[in-house]
Amino acid sequence: LANERESMYLVSEYAQKYFSNTLWQSELGKAIGLSYFKERGFTDETIKKFGLGYSLDQWEAFTNRALDEGYQLEFLQKTGLTIVKEGTDATKKFDRFKGRVMFPIHSMSGRVLGFGGRILTNDKKAAKYLNSPESEIYHKSKVLYGINFAKQAIAKEDNCYLVEGYTDVIQFHQRGIQNVVASSGTALTPDQIRLINRLTKNITVLFDGDAAGLRASLRGIDLILEQGMNVKVCTFPEGEDPDSFSKNNGYEEVVLYLQENSKDFIQFKTSLLVEESNNDPIKKADTVRDIVNSISKIPDQIKREIYIQECARLMNVSEEVLFNTLAQIGKKGA
Ligand code: CTP
Ligand code: MN
Ligand code: MN
Ligand code: MN
Ligand code: MN
Repeated sequence: LANERESMYLVSEYAQKYFSNTLWQSELGKAIGLSYFKERGFTDETIKKFGLGYSLDQWEAFTNRALDEGYQLEFLQKTGLTIVKEGTDATKKFDRFKGRVMFPIHSMSGRVLGFGGRILTNDKKAAKYLNSPESEIYHKSKVLYGINFAKQAIAKEDNCYLVEGYTDVIQFHQRGIQNVVASSGTALTPDQIRLINRLTKNITVLFDGDAAGLRASLRGIDLILEQGMNVKVCTFPEGEDPDSFSKNNGYEEVVLYLQENSKDFIQFKTSLLVEESNNDPIKKADTVRDIVNSISKIPDQIKREIYIQECARLMNVSEEVLFNTLAQIGKKGA
């Protein structure tokens, strides 16, 4: 099975080169894909560094070419690059990615595991990003986009910025901020956090300014606390994400923004929930339990105690009631 995986890596690396060649060399690739990336403000150097590409809007352009080059259908199918449909009289083969700009997804050591492909229109009905399926080489829950480009900077800066998407990672790099990875739209997993935990104990989670994902993502952050890491969060202005913000602002401005707007996660969550509970006693009781539950995830007893004191103040409740709630959660093992 090591051979099977190696064959899947080779076909993925071939695909990355094929999509990249299509972007730089074909007329359609240049006119559609390359100009799209240029409009997003990506330089040639950035496009090359991240191995970006373009898939032609044709049914089987890539698959036929790969087969001609001697790659086996089995591995094209297993990586999800080719979709095989058994018909009544013939087997049909389709390219998974058609008419999309392509973002290769790399392992920690820089091997190509899969792709994200973005449509070029703003068609709200079609999924904006299509991703490679889970496979023997691409385990989504264990991958962080950009980790191969970021690992040294994360260790050196002793902090990791966690963003939502591919373009956030790329635009940050182009601005000169390299300690950044993306969860790529999926909920954060313990394995993904462990990848970062080996490099630094400090994470700053950057949220798109659309607020849609904010509430849902707060729960996932408890998983970071559980691993004994220090978590800060930073939101962006309405309608902005790290990509657009760093496209429209210089390095100094972005760094200053991050410095001034990064807040301790527990304090941020407490203030947010207190504000939302709007003096409703029932909601406030839920808030107290929710916050203490987050605090209970922190392995370090001294930190837990300091947070209890701080949150008692922010929520205007006694430390005693928080310590009692904490003890109850401890007993339930929640
Ligand atoms: N995503 C996905 N499928 C979708 C939408 C989003 O896989 N249909 C993932 C992608 O990895 C995307 C990330 O979630 O990069 C964040 O989503 P979003 O903020 O909507 O996309 P952006 O990265 O901001 O994309 P763009 O700027 O190209 O619109
Ligand atoms: Mn495996
Ligand atoms: Mn978003
Ligand atoms: Mn975004
Ligand atoms: Mn964006």
